[in-house]
Amino acid sequence: MTASLRRIGVLTGGGDCPGLNAVIRAVVKTAESYGLEVTGVQDGFHGLIFGPAHPLTSQDVTGILPRGGTILGTSNRDNPLDYTWEENGELRHKDMTDQCAANLKNWGVDAVVFIGGDGSLTVSQGLAKKGVLSVGVPKTIDNDLGATDQTFGFDTALAVATDALDRLHTTAESHHRCMVLEVMGRNAGWIALESGLAGGADVILVPEIPFDMEHVAAKVRARVAEGKKFSIVVVAEGAAPRGGKQVVQRVIATSAEPIRLGGVGNQIGQQIEDMTDVETRVTVLGHIQRGGSPTPYDRILATRYGVHAVELLVAGQFGRMVALKGTEITSVPISEALNNPRRVDPDGDMVRTARSLGISFGDRT
Ligand code: F6P
Repeated sequence: MTASLRRIGVLTGGGDCPGLNAVIRAVVKTAESYGLEVTGVQDGFHGLIFGPAHPLTSQDVTGILPRGGTILGTSNRDNPLDYTWEENGELRHKDMTDQCAANLKNWGVDAVVFIGGDGSLTVSQGLAKKGVLSVGVPKTIDNDLGATDQTFGFDTALAVATDALDRLHTTAESHHRCMVLEVMGRNAGWIALESGLAGGADVILVPEIPFDMEHVAAKVRARVAEGKKFSIVVVAEGAAPRGGKQVVQRVIATSAEPIRLGGVGNQIGQQIEDMTDVETRVTVLGHIQRGGSPTPYDRILATRYGVHAVELLVAGQFGRMVALKGTEITSVPISEALNNPRRVDPDGDMVRTARSLGISFGDRT
């Protein structure tokens, strides 16, 4: 163990996702087994800038393994590298990294486990320049972080989206309708692609494959012609027509990632009905994908990540992110994860498998 390591901090940053509590629990239990104290920073980077932080012991993490959300709270607005707030109708910006480093020193925290997505990991790199020692744990339902085969939270979101597709199937079949399901994922189509495969969708639209409504409508019409009176379409919130733009739901100026996508489902639902005469309904799954209890897979992955994060700190291996490679837990430099976003490969095995089943990506007939 590095001689100076006595107390570690833990923080959950960005949007929440199922499995955060499992990581926190694993971090606390593993730290205690090494004789380390743990400080939990409240509400993500907001807490790192303004406090509070408080001790976390195994008593505090008892029973949280199956719980969704994060007992520490989180925030996706407070970026210490470019803290942004509104004053007299104008946006103000300030670098708060010195304040974060000073807080950690005051709290007696020697190194931090940052549990977050690409935004949080970018902050951890900025803080490293101010002497903050840390490791990262990759979290996001979007599964869009490079250098790890999977982020925790994705499996739960996938299960929720697949369950929604199963439910939509039965009602679509009864009413001879086309059902459109809009799922999350930001600029990555993993939730749409994998839930579409698992839930037997007829059309899957992902950001990585621009679509053409003529092809989407042709698929729905072809099913009617075959005597299949219903169709299931799953669309990622980031999917866009060829030559067109993603649908932006809102812009949050004070957020590190201001764009919130959403709305493409309703747009294409209307177009499908207009172009095919098949009655169409749209479901936007939204934050249900992020809430609730993590799947067993996510609980285990999150636990393995939390244990290894502490092991890295103990070994003095700072600036690294825990990662899953095949079946093994390992670690990579955080820069590697950030420079390499994970996207659906339009020519990859998963897309080819779907095409073999006759699933349309809306790019050809
Ligand atoms: O990154 C996770 C995610 O759930 C995305 O899939 C989605 O686009 C976004 O966060 C939603 O953010 P918010 O919780 O701020 O609405």
